[in-house]
Amino acid sequence: MTHGSGDSRAGLTSGGNGSTPLILCEDLWKIYRVGDVEVRALQGVNLAIDRREFVAIMGTSGSGKSTLMNILGCLDQPTRGRYRLDGLDVATAKPDLLAELRNRRIGFVFQNFNLIPRTSALENAQLPLFYRGLPIREQRRQAAAALERVGLAGREQHYPTQLSGGQQQRVAIARALVGSPSILFADEPTGNLDTSSSREIMGILERLNCEDGITIILVTHESDIAAYASRELVMKDGQIVQDVQRMPHLSVTS
Ligand SMILES: Nc1ncnc2c1ncn2[C@@H]1O[C@H](COP(=O)(O)OP(=O)(O)OP(=O)(O)O)[C@@H](O)[C@H]1O
Ligand SMILES: [Mg+2]
Repeated sequence: MTHGSGDSRAGLTSGGNGSTPLILCEDLWKIYRVGDVEVRALQGVNLAIDRREFVAIMGTSGSGKSTLMNILGCLDQPTRGRYRLDGLDVATAKPDLLAELRNRRIGFVFQNFNLIPRTSALENAQLPLFYRGLPIREQRRQAAAALERVGLAGREQHYPTQLSGGQQQRVAIARALVGSPSILFADEPTGNLDTSSSREIMGILERLNCEDGITIILVTHESDIAAYASRELVMKDGQIVQDVQRMPHLSVTS
């Protein structure tokens, strides 16, 4: 299945022509050494993901899902193999360029929200723009717009402890969105949420994918969450053992 063809909003570079996959992994290995113990967290992963795809990664605990996500999100490097992000060979890219990519093109959402405590929702959402050195007024304007986009208008001054889990995750999504990323990585974003909050979060991710063309790569243990995606990968022992395209929402009951 192909998705889009080089939409400049979705491509990492304005010159992206859409003919190369957004994500291309060739024989990726990640080997951790802890004392004498060697853990082969990834064992030869080959994977191509196009712009605007919505991919769910499933698999048992320890199968390598987070390891793969961290490499795809340029938070970590593989031990062996090649990873190209929009044609860029990440291993040989200059650190400045990678930092810029992470700040401007990639958004992350984690299971435990990772919000800064005793800091308002607005300030949490501002953070990527602060690192970009934007004027404070512009940071606030864009952060408020991102909070509104995830349904949190009116909660700008709330601290994380004054928000429900679902609301905290929405702040985390606003923070991931504020820099207009092309790709959103979400590692078990609903893992700490109840069913109705999970649905809200997945509804937001679905909209970001369908309406804004953001590529979404999501790790989950739950098949009803994976059902929002149009492609499902299953990992086992550091390898992708299943890769299925399907109509989204097949098993989602409303
Ligand atoms: N920093 C690290 N140092 C050593 N071993 C690690 C490290 N990170 C992960 N591992 C090991 O790599 C393997 C894959 O871990 P990973 O976190 O990718 O699994 P996962 O599929 O995300 O699991 P979960 O569903 O529990 O989050 C595991 O055996 C884990 O113990
Ligand atoms: Mg994990």
